[in-house]
Amino acid sequence: MAVYLNGAFMPVEEAQVSVLDRGFLFGDGVYEVIPVYAGKPMRLQEHLQRLQQSLNATHLDVTEDWAVLIADLIELNGGGDLSVYLQVTRGADARRDHALPESIFPTIFMMATPFTPVQDLEVVTGIKAVTVEDNRWLRCFIKSICLQPNVLLKQQANEAGAQDAILVRDGVVTEAAAANVFVIKDKVVYTAPKNDLILAGITRDLVLELVRDAGLEYREEAPSLSMLENANEIWVTSSTREIVPVIELDGKPVANGKIGPLWYNVMQQYQVFKQQLIAG
Ligand SMILES: Cc1ncc(COP(=O)(O)O)c(C=O)c1O
Repeated sequence: MAVYLNGAFMPVEEAQVSVLDRGFLFGDGVYEVIPVYAGKPMRLQEHLQRLQQSLNATHLDVTEDWAVLIADLIELNGGGDLSVYLQVTRGADARRDHALPESIFPTIFMMATPFTPVQDLEVVTGIKAVTVEDNRWLRCFIKSICLQPNVLLKQQANEAGAQDAILVRDGVVTEAAAANVFVIKDKVVYTAPKNDLILAGITRDLVLELVRDAGLEYREEAPSLSMLENANEIWVTSSTREIVPVIELDGKPVANGKIGPLWYNVMQQYQVFKQQLIAG
């Protein structure tokens, strides 16, 4: 695997980062994950805009020709279906002082790992999820590498026999441990609004576009816990998982416990969107 580190491409075995890096010491950095289908990055500009937002919010002053670097990384890794991971940390500083150092060189790292996109909707089985208290910080719009709260919430779900955690704050659904959440109730599609309490998913926006194009009614309103518990369908969405149907919530079936019709409808459109991207 070829990776990019601070200005050069190299085999992953040769990539080395200082133990004094503030990413390592403080989790002081941001990241992006961009899905690549048949060598083509999906919604690249949107991912780069969100990266810029994360960089701005964390006072990381970095200018790179990201699109060119990503294209080179994809080519060096043979194209195909990849997940591009991009991370910027504040860089190495021996003082280990919380306050931002005056002169410091950010660490820029990128890798591309193979991933298996959804292809056949008939083989999708749906997942189990549990609700957990959203106890993360209040700046969730930043795609921060400081993911320990998300890690612990996902672990809590796994220990309860589920594959994902649906996060609830003040009685309403924010998002999942590493995905956005959609709740379908009485043919209306609900998802939390873009604010500081969620990461504005690129997949979330695409799904909302597909929902609208399908003529379905939708509201950017955080679903209440009781709406979630009485949902007709629940989906979690992210760049590498696309749209995942939740068929069991807190040990009880979601509606009849089967994948719902709106999921098939919107997921088919998602596959068409991918095919159009690949066809160029
Ligand atoms: C907390 C959180 N919310 C939402 C998402 C979905 O974002 P995207 O659709 O851009 O992958 C992610 C993706 O990693 C995430 O970590």
